Amino acid sequence: MIISGSSRKGGNTELLAEAFAKGASKHHQVEIVSVRDYQVNPCLGCNACFKTNGICAQKDDMVLIYEKMNQADMLVIASPVYFYGISSQLKAVIDRFHNPIRDTFHIKKMALLLVGAASLPELFDAILTEYNLCLKFFNIEDAGKVLVRGVKDKGDINNTDALNEAYRLGLTT
Ligand SMILES: Cc1cc2nc3c(=O)[nH]c(=O)nc-3n(C[C@H](O)[C@H](O)[C@H](O)COP(=O)(O)O)c2cc1C
Repeated sequence: MIISGSSRKGGNTELLAEAFAKGASKHHQVEIVSVRDYQVNPCLGCNACFKTNGICAQKDDMVLIYEKMNQADMLVIASPVYFYGISSQLKAVIDRFHNPIRDTFHIKKMALLLVGAASLPELFDAILTEYNLCLKFFNIEDAGKVLVRGVKDKGDINNTDALNEAYRLGLTT
């Protein structure tokens, strides 16, 4: 399962996610879940789900994503860099994993696909710190990363080797 974190249709994140999916689908069943297609509210922090065996107080599309997560053995996070972090739409989805339903998931591996406009060496540092902490917290193996600097406008990623890189990573996971 790939969660694509940009609302921009046909944007760089989506192209990168699709390239990964193309490679991975040679050996696996792959689904891309785009934040654009799901209404997921930020976590309220009420912890009601911990008293109701995972039933969230909010009635939104997150229930559909929980169902898909339940079937997945690998999770790929794809995001544009928004002010040195992941997009808020994607963060909302990830925060909703603060729910005991996550104990029923079978995710063994994760991969990370990131795009950003700047060419700054430190561009992805904050996201990588969070990613590594999450791997440790959930005891999940890192399957690899494709980190793409210098892509701003729609389609800029076509001028890089990143789509081939993502395809190859998908193929070998
Ligand atoms: C709200 C917002 C914040 C952004 N912040 C950053 C940033 O901090 N650093 C950066 O390099 N690019 C930043 N960008 C640029 C995007 O990361 C870049 O355009 C990316 O290719 C967008 O991916 P997409 O085509 O999948 O939407 C920002 C873009 C937006 C819309």
